[in-house]
Amino acid sequence: MEKKLLILSLFFSVLSFSQSKVPVYLDDSQPMEVRIEDALSRMKLEEKVDMVHAQSKFSSRGVPRLGIPENWMTDGPHGIRAEVLWDEWNQAGWTNDSCMAFPALTCLAATWNPEMAALYGRSIGEEARYRNKNVLLGPGINIYRTPLNGRNFEYMGEDPYLASRMVVPYVQGVQKNGVAACVKHYALNNQEVDRHTVNVTVDDRALYEIYLPAFKAAVTEGKAWAIMGAYNRYKGQWACQNEYLLNNILRNEWNFDGVVISDWGGVNNTKEAIYHGLDMEFGTWTDGLAENKSDAYSQYYLAKPFLKLLKSGEVSEEEINKKVRNILRLAFRTTMNRNRPFGSFGTAEHGLAARQIAEEGIVLLKNAAPSNSPKGEKPILPLNMNTAKKILVVGENAIKSMTIGGGSSSLKAKYEISPLEGIKRKAGNVKVEYARGYVGEKNAKQDGLAAADITDNRSPEELLTEACSMAKDADYVIFIGGLNKHDGQDCEGNDRKGLGLPYGQDRVISELAKVTKNLIVIIVSGNAVAMPWVNSVPAIVETWYLGSEAGNALAAVLTGEVNPSGKLPFSFPVKLTDIGAHALGDYPGKDKEETYRESIFVGYRWIEKNKIKPLFPFGHGLSYTQFTYGKAVTSSKSITKNELLTITIPIKNTGKLAGKEVVQLYVGDEKSSLPRPLKELKHFIKIELQPNESKNVTFDISVDDLKFFDDQKHEWIAESGKFKIYIGSSSADIRTVVDFELK
Ligand code: GLC
Repeated sequence: MEKKLLILSLFFSVLSFSQSKVPVYLDDSQPMEVRIEDALSRMKLEEKVDMVHAQSKFSSRGVPRLGIPENWMTDGPHGIRAEVLWDEWNQAGWTNDSCMAFPALTCLAATWNPEMAALYGRSIGEEARYRNKNVLLGPGINIYRTPLNGRNFEYMGEDPYLASRMVVPYVQGVQKNGVAACVKHYALNNQEVDRHTVNVTVDDRALYEIYLPAFKAAVTEGKAWAIMGAYNRYKGQWACQNEYLLNNILRNEWNFDGVVISDWGGVNNTKEAIYHGLDMEFGTWTDGLAENKSDAYSQYYLAKPFLKLLKSGEVSEEEINKKVRNILRLAFRTTMNRNRPFGSFGTAEHGLAARQIAEEGIVLLKNAAPSNSPKGEKPILPLNMNTAKKILVVGENAIKSMTIGGGSSSLKAKYEISPLEGIKRKAGNVKVEYARGYVGEKNAKQDGLAAADITDNRSPEELLTEACSMAKDADYVIFIGGLNKHDGQDCEGNDRKGLGLPYGQDRVISELAKVTKNLIVIIVSGNAVAMPWVNSVPAIVETWYLGSEAGNALAAVLTGEVNPSGKLPFSFPVKLTDIGAHALGDYPGKDKEETYRESIFVGYRWIEKNKIKPLFPFGHGLSYTQFTYGKAVTSSKSITKNELLTITIPIKNTGKLAGKEVVQLYVGDEKSSLPRPLKELKHFIKIELQPNESKNVTFDISVDDLKFFDDQKHEWIAESGKFKIYIGSSSADIRTVVDFELK
């Protein structure tokens, strides 16, 4: 029937063509699929082959003869990467491409606020659109399986439900601009060590319950127009040419109708790329990963070798048609959509958006009264800027650029307010002094971009002595350290070697804690870090990589202008072996093979199963005010498979400041035929409450919230029996538990 309809509508459109003279594929009044068929029918074989592989570092050919535009891709998930030379990673040196640097995606995830994800997607999409890019190579949503992964800062944490809820609005926001979000890296790219070769073995339960959900949500709910294949292997096939991930799951189970783009250099076999679902090959160099040659692009796996197979008849033309249809669909959704908006770039609105996301993502980990305070003394934060005379800021990360480096997400930002600058701007009459405290890496050029030179050749002893002597008469000492975007830290291409802070920071913090009780530690990072000094400091703040507005957002939170409301998107373990991948010793794999033996027990799922006390738990984050959780009321004590259980709980702000709280709901299955975590995040909502204000929060629990993936039956199932609903302010701060039954 469908075929007949298509032929009929083709007939009428050809008929109408003879009257309107506009070719069908250019006629906006025609259905997209009709336009695609018409465009395809006009293309020569060589033109089709030209479309399925890159023509430059970040672009692929259109069809010049038919007026079908080229495709221009751009990194990255946190902002629009500066222009590079035609076939180089090096900077092109343009002067019109300094972008707004938005916070890293761990910060976005830490907002636990889908409205922030929508704001983020819309804003970064406007920047991509203005720069005439029609594919944004982001967001990244690989699950946080090890705290060492160099790229965790580009992703959305350890929980599939949180990542799913946050990726959908981001994708929708980007695509409202007529720019495709290219969700990456599909799939199982959970470390950088051996990322081009490691073959991941993981059971289907973990694949479907942990590693795929955010990709599935991006595709089936977010309607993502593009997906990027990962570098690693799965079931022995490279993810960019993988029949299980691309054909069986992405296309057949999720009905994905977008384009599959390889990661740069992720393709290494013509036939597998042809038959296993890849549409566009990028970043390859002639014979795989060797240096590129002048005619590299015509030597691509999906270039001349593909054309040869098509011409010889060994491969049917339908194979290339499938790919070209997806690429034409991308064109009609983006470059050939006459109604798409025009975008904007580096605007004050985008600066405000970056700041809002940053302010909502900052996590207050600890906030106590200084240790020598009289009983009942209030917590050290927010800073009292009325009584303070002098603030000492210590640490390299107070002045170091964090938008440059980190790999492909590196940015040439229009501006970047450092933490020190931000604090100075808010200081008013308070004197702000600075001591380096420690020196990390030399600020060498990264990604062809040079950050300000912050070289300091003094010895660690000199730096420490200076900081401690300056700390003596400071009302507050704010240590700003953590990780950075250099190789071996939070950076693509490698992982960290350990959980601890680098550059001797632990010693600096411990020594400062001996000199002053009014010490606040700010961790700038995209990963969890060990904190041996956690009991010696009254306040600890995790501020992620906050982008252009970093200093303004941090200062707003420290001075109380903004009440922090971020929650951890991943657990902070005390030590590495508190995490499954390290406890079982599978990470980073051996001889390019790695089995995820912890299976579904990732992050808090492992921690709770093994009754481990984390340093800071998943979902943790304090406020300057307090929230109480009243008695939960449920619509019934049991539901059948097609009923909803409604649970309502009053939340009250009992403090003196307005604040936002993330109410989290976890579900635990009391008895199941297969192993299940103690509890799993299934709902959350962020609400704002004025002092003394109370709001009823309502959640609807459906049978889908109770299901687990049965890998024998290859389907999601819910088994009747007893369940528990845990509602709280973090995975470890459960305020109420409700029992109910699935009949
Ligand atoms: C890199 C990254 C990918 C990026 C691409 C283009 O290797 O893995 O995230 O989008 O290549 O820079």
